[in-house]
Amino acid sequence: MTRHNLAVLASGRGSNFQAIIDAVANGYLPHVTIRVLVTDNPGAYALDRARQHGIEPMVLTPRQFSSRSEYYNAIADEFRKRDVSLVVLAGFMRIVGKELIQAFPNRIMNIHPALLPSFPGLHGQKQALDYGVRVSGCTVHFVDEGMDTGPVIIQAAVPVLDDDTEETLSSRILTYEHQIYPEAIRLFAEGRLEVSGRRVIIKGAAAGEAGLIAPPLPADPFPRQ
Ligand code: GAR
Repeated sequence: MTRHNLAVLASGRGSNFQAIIDAVANGYLPHVTIRVLVTDNPGAYALDRARQHGIEPMVLTPRQFSSRSEYYNAIADEFRKRDVSLVVLAGFMRIVGKELIQAFPNRIMNIHPALLPSFPGLHGQKQALDYGVRVSGCTVHFVDEGMDTGPVIIQAAVPVLDDDTEETLSSRILTYEHQIYPEAIRLFAEGRLEVSGRRVIIKGAAAGEAGLIAPPLPADPFPRQ
């Protein structure tokens, strides 16, 4: 099987980055090497995680460059130099420039803490609470030039409880993020993701079996004949 060099972009805590590090370490992602961690935030805890696990840490901030396009071209160059085949956004709090997207078409993934296309942008969990939905969740998707608009790979549905706060809902959703991100990367590494228009086909999955994690339906209390 083809080996894949991963690049991770993160701005903060990096718990999704850690979930991917763990998935590589425990053999769930056997053909994947995390080649570099790039952050736009010199204070990001993700940098410490990279150092602790022998992953090359790199700080690249927009202020070091004269334009946004130079910034994303520089990141693309660093990734090309390292023979990166998949870019993973793990809490990278910027809209990625088209220079990077065009350099890695359908090879950049993002995780978002809501069921897209609901509640894109910042604070997806708070948006879900404020709206009053009963179900939210998280989405891994390929990145296109819009904000959180690219083709959906995997979603997990997560209940919203009456006494939830932004913190409790965020932490319930986060548990699922840590599960679906390694799963999406594994499908990619196995060559099983095929983008067809807006849809992502998961090759080799039985109908209705892949791409969604949800609580099972309860038995129908009013069965029809
Ligand atoms: C995660 O909840 C991720 O879904 C979210 O930021 C958090 C990062 O946590 N991303 C976005 O909101 C992107 N719009 P982490 O740094 O611990 O992985």
